Amino acid sequence: MTAFGSSTGTLPQTSDLPQHVAIIMDGNGRWASNRLLPRAAGHKAGLGAVRAVVKGCAERGIGFLTLFAFSSENWRRPADEVGFLTRLFLSTLDREVDRLNRNNVRFRVIGAIDAFGDAVCERVRAAEALTAGNTGLTLTVAANYGGRWDILQAVERLRRAEHQGPIDEAALAAHLSMHYAPEPDLFIRTGGEARISNFLLWQLAYTEFHFTDTLWPDFDDASLAEAIASYARRERRFGRTSEQLQQSD
Ligand code: IPE
Ligand code: IPE
Ligand code: MG
Repeated sequence: MTAFGSSTGTLPQTSDLPQHVAIIMDGNGRWASNRLLPRAAGHKAGLGAVRAVVKGCAERGIGFLTLFAFSSENWRRPADEVGFLTRLFLSTLDREVDRLNRNNVRFRVIGAIDAFGDAVCERVRAAEALTAGNTGLTLTVAANYGGRWDILQAVERLRRAEHQGPIDEAALAAHLSMHYAPEPDLFIRTGGEARISNFLLWQLAYTEFHFTDTLWPDFDDASLAEAIASYARRERRFGRTSEQLQQSD
């Protein structure tokens, strides 16, 4: 078990406000094409939505926000788009990290970021170190991240640590790249697709899903509020019956 418990191991404490929101920010390209703009313009516009959800989550007292920025499969895109996204990541780090720090945000990145080169790695490590002691929202960006990669690297770390005894959930979860966070309560995917695209495969076991057709650059605080309201109406049974839940109220 991680410090937060596991949805399949113990019954998690839940409330109407999700403690961890994980988002697949999808639809930047279509947002741009709809305006006859290059895809890059959509990625740039998506930054406005990132700012809005970071602010919205921090203000609501949500503990963890995780954003999927670049998947391990996104290398299959044209080289100029991959290059643009890498440069955008770098320039955004340079521009936004101080503000995040002033707002007490703890910043983390998960994924095999060596692939983006030394400049990105150095800036990420510096931003993580600068914000490590912050006690507000933990903002995690998943970059060159894949859920299968994450499970495999955890198994590899267990092997290298010469783990004694059975490999149970707790042992594996302790080596996942987001071991510092509880499992997401609410998963949001914008852009109309209803799939996980190799995001947090292990941790989404009991997460509530919210799919919206809104394209990521158009996602704003009202969209976040709608997702949270939809979450608050869900009955999280974790395998139990509805009657059991009503009896325990
Ligand atoms: C999401 O938007 C951003 C990344 C994957 C980096 P897309 O670029 O996938 O936008 P669509 O799906 O083509 O509209
Ligand atoms: C998923 O979006 C990854 C990110 C948002 C970073 P994609 O747009 O790449 O997903 P697929 O390929 O359509 O499933
Ligand atoms: Mg997409």
